[in-house]
Amino acid sequence: MILYFSATGNSKYVAERLAAELADEATDIFTLIRNEDFSELNSERPWVVAAPTYAWQLPRIVRDWLRRAKLTGSKQFYFTLTCGNSIGSAGRHAKRLCEEMGMQYMGCAQIIMPENYVAMFPVPEEAEARRIVAKAEPDILSLAERIRREEPKPGHCGALGGVLYSAVNRFFFHFFVKDRKFTVSAACFSCGKCADVCPLKNIEMKSGRPVWNGNCTHCMACICGCPAAAIEYGRASVGKPRYRCPAVK
Ligand SMILES: Cc1cc2nc3c(=O)[nH]c(=O)nc-3n(C[C@H](O)[C@H](O)[C@H](O)COP(=O)(O)O)c2cc1C
Ligand code: SF4
Ligand code: SF4
Repeated sequence: MILYFSATGNSKYVAERLAAELADEATDIFTLIRNEDFSELNSERPWVVAAPTYAWQLPRIVRDWLRRAKLTGSKQFYFTLTCGNSIGSAGRHAKRLCEEMGMQYMGCAQIIMPENYVAMFPVPEEAEARRIVAKAEPDILSLAERIRREEPKPGHCGALGGVLYSAVNRFFFHFFVKDRKFTVSAACFSCGKCADVCPLKNIEMKSGRPVWNGNCTHCMACICGCPAAAIEYGRASVGKPRYRCPAVK
């Protein structure tokens, strides 16, 4: 079974491509994370986790859900992380996570997809995004082949890199991952979608306007999903396109 979390569609796309290649099932864990639902899931085929990379690691919300989820059947665990350019030390951390979970770590694959971090970096327009998605296809196919053969996928992060990446991850979450800079413009028409797409239930609608409550993981689902493009993140997002993987509905 392929378990996926995806804020802007990239990891959903990869999960669904893998599911199609492997004739396996892709399960969205968004609602399970949001509702802190850890009830049993069973798969006799290898588990595959597809998720974005946040500061060179698996998203904390995915890691924390995996720690508590009851996953029965196969013990084999593959990870595939989508990213703008590098998954850093994600493999090293995923391996440690598998040890904690009593699972057999089978490797962590990097799939380069379009950047979605509109609060920090430039994000591509649709035509460029489509080009990047098309370029990812050989990596998706080779990963599917490995999983089909139940072959391990070696990680790629040495000891020094692991220490450095971990320190940056901690620094980044401590100092940068805040929601105080989110604002909403007069274009907001009170649809409530931003509140519905937040995996942490961090957004509340008050008098028809979203209010951020201080528990954010910077997934970018709210700002990128607003149908009116009414959300900004300080000045960092002004004038940028809002990213949504063009290859998923
Ligand atoms: C908070 C945050 C941190 C990110 N950190 C990284 C990173 O360390 N390396 C990288 O290459 N891409 C990074 N990205 C880009 C995303 O991992 C990438 O665009 C991913 O495919 C988005 O997946 P999704 O559409 O499934 O949410 C980051 C994005 C966000 C929002
Ligand atoms: S998604 Fe956009 S339009 Fe809808 S409530 Fe949120 S900010 Fe307003
Ligand atoms: S507030 Fe927005 S960016 Fe933060 S976790 Fe929720 S949806 Fe993601």
